[in-house]
Amino acid sequence: MRTPIIAGNWKMNKTAVEAVTFSNEIKDALNQIEGVDIVFCPPAINIPGVAEAVKGTKIGVGAQNMYFEESGAFTGELAPNMLTPFCQYVILGHSERRAYFGETDEGVNKKIKAALAHNLTPMVCVGESLEQNEAGETQSFVSGQVKAAFAGLTAVQAARCIIAYEPIWAIGTGKSATVEQAGGIIKTAVRDTIAELFGAETAAQIRIQYGGSVKPHNIADYMAHPDIDGALVGGASLKPGFVELVANAT
Ligand code: PGA
Repeated sequence: MRTPIIAGNWKMNKTAVEAVTFSNEIKDALNQIEGVDIVFCPPAINIPGVAEAVKGTKIGVGAQNMYFEESGAFTGELAPNMLTPFCQYVILGHSERRAYFGETDEGVNKKIKAALAHNLTPMVCVGESLEQNEAGETQSFVSGQVKAAFAGLTAVQAARCIIAYEPIWAIGTGKSATVEQAGGIIKTAVRDTIAELFGAETAAQIRIQYGGSVKPHNIADYMAHPDIDGALVGGASLKPGFVELVANAT
C-alpha cells in the first residue's frame, strides 16, 4: 500500500554538464524498475537541466532546500513557486543544513507548510548525533524533531509528507545503522509519533525512509523491514551503481 521511494541526494556534487550526462546515462535503466518511486535531487542550479533530461520517465525531481517565503529580499534563497515548474519534491531539514546553515525546527516547520501549499512533497529529515545516540537520547530527540516539524499540520497534510530518518553518525561514514536500529527508531520514534499526533490511519499512510550509508549491497535488508519505505541516498546516488541499488530495493 505504501509505494517505496528511493531518492538520490546529490548534495553539492556535479556541474550542470555532469548532472545532465549522468541523468541520461542511468535514466532508461531506472525507468524500467517497477514498484518503486525514484527521485533525483541535484544542486539547485542543475534542477532545470535534470528535469529536462528525465522528462517522460518515471523519475521525479527534488530540490535539496527551499525558503518558505513567496518572494522578496532574501538573497540567495529559492521560493516554492520557483521550484514547482521542475520539481515534485523538496528535501527539508537535512542534518547538513541544520549543522552548517543554521536550519531550525521552526524554519523546517514553516518550509513544510510552504511546500505543501505549493503541492511539493516534502522529504523531512530527522536524526540524532553520535553523542545523542550514545547518551540514549535517540528516541526522545527524534520524536521531538518530528513533533516540531509537523506542528500545526492537518492529518491530510501530514500523510502527504515523506520523512527520512537519517542518524547523523551514519551519513557519509560508511557506518550504516543496523536494520534493527533503523527500523526500531522509524517505528517507535517516527511512525508512532505520527500516530500520536494524527492517528493510526495517517501513521499507516506516511512513507518513512532510512538514510545513512545506504549502498547497493544493504538496501534490500532495509527494505525488508515493514516500517522502512525506501531510502534517502547520498554518496551511492552519484554513481551508475545507483541503478543496482534501486533494483535491489524491489
Ligand atoms: P550518504 O548520505 O548516503 O552518503 O550517507 C545520506 C544523506 O545525507 O542523505
